[in-house]
Amino acid sequence: MAWTIAASLNEVPEGKTLGVEVDGVHIALYNLDGKIYATHGICTHALALLSEGWIEDGKIECPLHQGQFDIRSGKALCSPVTEDLRTFAVRVDGNDILVDVD
Ligand code: FES
Repeated sequence: MAWTIAASLNEVPEGKTLGVEVDGVHIALYNLDGKIYATHGICTHALALLSEGWIEDGKIECPLHQGQFDIRSGKALCSPVTEDLRTFAVRVDGNDILVDVD
C-alpha cells in the first residue's frame, strides 16, 4: 500500500465531494455521513469530472449526462453509464485524508 495525502478533512464537508489529483490520477473524494470515500474522478462514459456532480442517497450523478454510480462500490447504476468506476482505499489520519492509488 502506498498512502498519499489527498486532502484535508475539512475540505470535504459532509454531503460534499472534492476533486483532487494524486500521483497523476484524478480522484473524487466524498463525505457520506462523516465517512470518506474515493473513486476515480472521471466518469466512465465520457470526459466529465464527477466532483462537479451531485450526491444523493450514496450515489454520485454525473454532471454531463446524469449517469449515476454507487459511491461506496463504484457500481454503474443507470444509463448511459455501463462501466463501473474504480474505487480507492481511504484512510483518515487526524485532519489528513490519505488515498492508496496503487
Ligand atoms: Fe458521465 Fe456521460 S459523461 S454520464
